Amino acid sequence: MSNIGSYEERLQGFDWSIAERELGYRAGDVINIGYHCSDRICDLGHGGKLALLWEDHQGREKSFTFDDLRVLSNTIAAFLVRLGVQPGERVCLFMDRVPELYIGFLGVLKMGGIVQPLFSAFREDSLATRLKDAATSVVITQRKHLPVVRRTREQLSSVRQIVVVDSEGAQLKAGEVALDLEGEPRVEAFEVFPSTAETPSVLHYTSGTTGQPKGAQHVHYSLIAQYLTTKWVLDLQSDDIYWCNADPGWVTGTSYGIIGPWANGATQAVLDAGFSAPRWYAFLQKYRVTVWYSAPTAIRLLMREGTELVRNYDLSALRHLASVGEPLNAEAVLWSKEAFGRPFHDTYWQTETGCIVVTNVPGLPIKPGSMGKPFPGITAAVVDLKTSEPLDTPGSVGLIGIKPPWPSLIRGYWNNPTGYANKFKNGWYLTGDRASKDGDGYFWFVGRDDDVINTGGHLVGPFEIESALLEHPAVAESAAVATPDPTNMEVVKAFVALKAGHDGNEDLELEIMNFIRKRLSPLAMPQKIEFVASLPKTRSGKIMRRVLRAQEFGEPVGDISTMMDD
Ligand code: PRX
Repeated sequence: MSNIGSYEERLQGFDWSIAERELGYRAGDVINIGYHCSDRICDLGHGGKLALLWEDHQGREKSFTFDDLRVLSNTIAAFLVRLGVQPGERVCLFMDRVPELYIGFLGVLKMGGIVQPLFSAFREDSLATRLKDAATSVVITQRKHLPVVRRTREQLSSVRQIVVVDSEGAQLKAGEVALDLEGEPRVEAFEVFPSTAETPSVLHYTSGTTGQPKGAQHVHYSLIAQYLTTKWVLDLQSDDIYWCNADPGWVTGTSYGIIGPWANGATQAVLDAGFSAPRWYAFLQKYRVTVWYSAPTAIRLLMREGTELVRNYDLSALRHLASVGEPLNAEAVLWSKEAFGRPFHDTYWQTETGCIVVTNVPGLPIKPGSMGKPFPGITAAVVDLKTSEPLDTPGSVGLIGIKPPWPSLIRGYWNNPTGYANKFKNGWYLTGDRASKDGDGYFWFVGRDDDVINTGGHLVGPFEIESALLEHPAVAESAAVATPDPTNMEVVKAFVALKAGHDGNEDLELEIMNFIRKRLSPLAMPQKIEFVASLPKTRSGKIMRRVLRAQEFGEPVGDISTMMDD
């Protein structure tokens, strides 16, 4: 029996107070994600249960119980307090998927800090943009990332301390401090910061079309939605071993890679290693993973290796599969049935929604290619592109709109109230994604309504790339757009107009690609560069990326006269 039971019955009279009651929360109480994911599970008598089974690319293994999580997150929290970090200050986690990342996340929240997890593949420009915007005080990192963090810090005034979790052998400089989590004296008791529902918790940076990435500000009350969606959609039960292969630098890796599973008292397995099909299957087999949350790009990569490889492993423990981040194509659903004997269940949501909003819950018949139906407690509609009025005719394409409020909706963008206000129209939160709804109420994803590039489930903003391109001495102007890719769905393509005297040859192409990889990240690196004499522009001089994108996808460019007037 699944946790959700009947979807239809759950819709009747749904109230988020179901989650509040299960978490022992009443309006006005203290609510702290760090506490709820560790101390509370111990208070319920499960301190000895395994919380984290960890393994890295070299095969090193570690395991932690919920009591370890409690004590070690206390240790980090107390350490930050000793460093002088005040509640509300931003503490960045810039690490690979090491235990300190997961435990540090809880530790920062326990002392009242705002935790800012950033993907460790970011290089200095991407890191600097985000640390500068958030005026981050402390960066917790690993020795291997210290050179990038040091170079970034030179550009910033806010960062007071860099904390290095594996500093052995490193020459630390002024303003750098070592934290050997397991070597520190264990802090058995720590007074958790008395955060309440609206206290800021996690600050995730997400890319939009215009401007640099925006800081999406979550609050501790998000726990209510993350707890219940984990329980009902991912269906975590007491003896499950759960694997979410997302990095906590992105929202999936925190909402469903830390908060949801641990608030449910579930055991998680974490693999700190890049993609390799045999490695992944061996990991699923070794830890007897029962519930797996993955993404379409990973599934497509596995598909490329075929079903034969799957047969070499005993994956009989797997009982529930879910996917997020990009459109889950029907072939991937059908392939997973063949390869694993069960389909991937699509889940749709965003950094801003904080929790899964449209999905195929267990028991709801899957229509391959559809994202499913709204989670109980979420009112979702397809709304008209211009008027934001709900479109009731099945098959009509519009924007996915969600009726506020719900517990994990972000409460703002950092330093950007206008950007946040613009997300709401006619009483709906507008996702910026296009979809249609069929006669049975299932949602079908159509595409994004903006110029953001979704590469392998990671959003990359064109503005960030174009700004970095402009710093290259040969580049006069540029446009970064999505181009189709069989594995990653989309990759970045840059159209570049060169300054006089530069020749658009292959060497320059490689040089520019590398330039972006080193400044931003491998994700943001254009996979293709096309040198052009000029770029299509509106009358006011704005580059029309949409025209270039349409060309890449072989779609009609449409009426550009309105764009011309921009
Ligand atoms: O365009 C949608 C796509 O990913 C965007 C959200 O990205 P981000 O904020 O980074 O959060 C990713 C993890 C929740 C959406 O606006 N997206 C997400 N899930 C799906 C999806 N596109 C199609 N199908 C999905 N299931």
